[in-house]
Amino acid sequence: MSNIVIVGTQWGDEGKGKIVDLLAEFADMVVRFQGGNNAGHTMVVNDEKVICHLIPSGILQGKTCMIGNGVVVDPEVLISEIDYLTGKGFNIGPNMLKISDKAHLIMPYHKEIDKAREARKGDKKIGTTGRGIGPAYEDKSTRRGIRVIDLLDIDVLTEKVNAILKEKNFYLKEYLGATPLIADDIIRRYTAYAKQLAPYIVNVSVEVGRSIENGKQILFEGAQGTHLDIDHGTYPYVTSSNTVSGNACCGAGIGPKAIDGVVGIVKAYTTRVGKGPFPTELFDKTGDYIQEKGAEFGATTGRKRRCGWLDMVQLRNAVRLNSLTGLVITKMDVLGGLDAINICTGYEYRGQILQDFPAGLKILDECKPVYETLPGWTEDITDIRNADELPENVRNYLNRIEQLCGVPIDIISVGPGRHETIVVNNPFCG
Ligand code: GDP
Ligand code: IMO
Ligand code: MG
Repeated sequence: MSNIVIVGTQWGDEGKGKIVDLLAEFADMVVRFQGGNNAGHTMVVNDEKVICHLIPSGILQGKTCMIGNGVVVDPEVLISEIDYLTGKGFNIGPNMLKISDKAHLIMPYHKEIDKAREARKGDKKIGTTGRGIGPAYEDKSTRRGIRVIDLLDIDVLTEKVNAILKEKNFYLKEYLGATPLIADDIIRRYTAYAKQLAPYIVNVSVEVGRSIENGKQILFEGAQGTHLDIDHGTYPYVTSSNTVSGNACCGAGIGPKAIDGVVGIVKAYTTRVGKGPFPTELFDKTGDYIQEKGAEFGATTGRKRRCGWLDMVQLRNAVRLNSLTGLVITKMDVLGGLDAINICTGYEYRGQILQDFPAGLKILDECKPVYETLPGWTEDITDIRNADELPENVRNYLNRIEQLCGVPIDIISVGPGRHETIVVNNPFCG
């Protein structure tokens, strides 16, 4: 029996969706524990691309999927995702998908506030996905959130919407200069969502706990990445939840002893969408090559992703913050065709070499990456399924990553498809 958490180690979009889909074959249940539809997790099976924003990526493998209490749920998006997947022939009935009664709802005013705030900030904006994620977590923390369980009692829902909307409308109209919302419209829409979603609402903590007791294997699917974590990321250029593995416990309602392994997904280079520091960012034709070859466009907003070299200061930070037991290196195929490849091993800051990821943005802005240069390769590695058959320079690059962070590589991904993968050690069977 083993229960595994999968997290992103960088700034998101590392290829978590692909790897969760691959490993879900060995799990009985897949649980999302934080974030919301700011996530965009891509799976490619039989040449067909499927992107999930809220529903866990285990759904294509026909596994029971749970949306934990730590997730913020936009019911409109959830219903359209259920319809989208149903249209593709997947079973998304209440036997397959369960939503925590304690998860918080994203309300229309959260989305309006997110967008209007960003617009008002101009070039100081965070570059959020505009999905209302921050404002929803904000209300959760200040104890004014509306929860999934409130959908089961329309009187409670009505009372809560009427009470909070006065304040939200004041803020929207008077401070943000946006259009105020009408309570009855929101209540009418959310009453309709409630009818559709009621059969899916359960106590996820109890269901996951029971499965663990019965010896089932659980996969906990993280969203975003370690450096978008609200505490440990490049604050304030972060998302509004804890993205590190420890939050699998809070966000699913289990204790830390239930976790047996933590797999960190690492893109073979680094990308970032939205604003914020990025020490190894490339502004030259190598950056453009990676962006184009890697098709680096956001799966949620379609924005071009910023690209740069792999950063071991960042990866070592992720190893410690998440207790990583194994790594998955994705998009190795994308680096093919470059003469030389850089790995950042430290940051130079005012004549000193920093080995630990600094907290201050001003410090990060001044950090210059210290690079180790390795030879590139020209071979196409997409069809390789055995690590021993990888070209020598690919193996050198992978070995160097392992050496520099002290964690073994379990899986190497060489293409977007489920089977374009080299499994060195299956975390569920190892
Ligand atoms: P996630 O948010 O971590 O699930 O990642 P995204 O789905 O947002 O972005 C990863 C992108 O890379 C998707 O388009 C995947 O289909 C694609 N991808 C994943 N692994 C590989 C790989 O090994 N090679 C290539 N070329 N593409 C990959
Ligand atoms: P997945 O799960 C990449 C980024 C946004 C923005 C910041 C805050 O697909 O890896 P938010 O809307 O969360 O308030 O935006 O976080 N961001 C992501 N970047 N991948 C994601 O998810 C992201 N989710 C949020 O671009 O910079
Ligand atoms: Mg993504």
